[in-house]
Amino acid sequence: MLLQIPELLNAEELAWARVLLRDAPWADGRGSAGTQAVRVKNNQQLPHDCEAAQRVRTLVLAGLDANSTFFSAALPKRVFTPRVNRYAGASNFYGNHIDNAIRALPNGNKVRTDLSCTDYDGGELTVTDTYGEKTVKLAAGDAVLYPGTSLHQVKPVTRGQRLACFLWIESMVRSDEQRRLLFELDMNLLGLRQQHGETDETTALTG
Ligand code: NI
Repeated sequence: MLLQIPELLNAEELAWARVLLRDAPWADGRGSAGTQAVRVKNNQQLPHDCEAAQRVRTLVLAGLDANSTFFSAALPKRVFTPRVNRYAGASNFYGNHIDNAIRALPNGNKVRTDLSCTDYDGGELTVTDTYGEKTVKLAAGDAVLYPGTSLHQVKPVTRGQRLACFLWIESMVRSDEQRRLLFELDMNLLGLRQQHGETDETTALTG
């Protein structure tokens, strides 16, 4: 399932994030790529512990925490520390790759990357799944959630810059199909409540 989540960050938070990232200490993004990905990766990334990265991460994590659509779709168990990257100028694309299936946290714990989430401004992301290739271009502050197993790429940014915060999620539900069914059940239950109010049937469905 590929899901767009509108307005994860509001206008005020976005403006603040842009200020934070303007003079941030950008570094070559290849440092964090695996052996396959490093050959197609050409972007910039913020050091994990710099102030700008920490502040943007806090904004994005608070946005995710407050977002019920994200919760229902991801059913998050563990979230890997969000990172921040930039595509601009000569460092402007990330070719086809699949993110590492397992990531290590600073404390040594491992996170299985069931889902990838990107929250960004500008630039096209294409994700390939069983339904073919889909192109996503979001408004600033929106997020997109997609299976960690999918082949994806960031097309070259030819004008301006693409700023993104991205993270991986280990879900309480491993299977993409089961997660999708639960999400659809939840969304339809929500729709039924809006149309008919709370009924015995909607109450029973919450089980
Ligand atoms: Ni990726």
